[in-house]
Amino acid sequence: MNRPSVLVARRVFPGVVERLRAHFDVQTNDDDVPWGREELIRRLQGRDGVFVTTGEPIDRVLLAACPQLRAVCSMAVGYNNIDVAACTEAGVLVSNAPDVLTETTADFGFALMMAAARRITESERFLRRGEWRQWSADFFVGADLHGTTLGILGMGRIGQAIARRGALGFGMPVLYHNRSRLAPEREAPLSARWVGLDELLAQADHLVIVVPYSAASHHLIGAPELARMKPTATLTNIARGGVVDDAALAAALRDGRLAAAGLDVFEGEPSVHPDLLGVPNVVLTPHIASASGPTRLAMAHLAADNLIAALTGQPLPTGLNPAPRA
Ligand code: DGY
Repeated sequence: MNRPSVLVARRVFPGVVERLRAHFDVQTNDDDVPWGREELIRRLQGRDGVFVTTGEPIDRVLLAACPQLRAVCSMAVGYNNIDVAACTEAGVLVSNAPDVLTETTADFGFALMMAAARRITESERFLRRGEWRQWSADFFVGADLHGTTLGILGMGRIGQAIARRGALGFGMPVLYHNRSRLAPEREAPLSARWVGLDELLAQADHLVIVVPYSAASHHLIGAPELARMKPTATLTNIARGGVVDDAALAAALRDGRLAAAGLDVFEGEPSVHPDLLGVPNVVLTPHIASASGPTRLAMAHLAADNLIAALTGQPLPTGLNPAPRA
């Protein structure tokens, strides 16, 4: 019997590819140039599985053009690039990579929030430009984190990990908004209280966004929502671009209607809205919240575990849809 054949759509760690090669014929993307849908379709012809990351579009058009495909396994936790319902209809198994990145991503969310509140990159740019002449009492004053109100939009695993850091490490009262409330025994250790979105926006001194991207969360934070926030507040987005209206955010930052922001994700990334590049009070990073060495490796191994399971008839460790009927 022929060995299954898989495509690894981006460059990943050699040890992970070696594991896949022990089971499958493997084609890799060693140049690491992202393939668009047409190229992906071309390269997927005759292949049984694909290892994807955050950006490869797996949609109905691709599925119709690749009828032999049986598994799509992503090393990301967010899977807005994959039409899971269409995969289920086509009998294609899908997995993502939850849990292994939770703490690393929460660490980074906190770092970004602190950098924005305490103006770390803004003041560093000032120093590097050679403009530092003297210490002054009101020099780069920012906002405190300790004892201020932490607002979390999206209270999944990463939201809860951020809440824990805020409550236990910084003495921050935590408010959150999520479709479903946590059970009281999960809220209690986080000192977290569920509130409506309007109250979250009005009360948060520091708002962190960790809600998944979908049609329902597109521009969930736009001009009207930003107008409800305190002008002294910060906003941090480590979820997905498109949840925040970047143009509206840039305008609020520029006009002093919001103190600062930290963004790791952008609508249309790797492009960044030019208005954001023009405002000083925003910390911008290139979608690296989960990028610690051990975590990225664990994410890739988990995608490989899923791909091996899917194509050898085993239950997927972190599958997102039911197995196709025999
Ligand atoms: C994810 O896993 O969804 C992250 O955004 C990738 O770092």
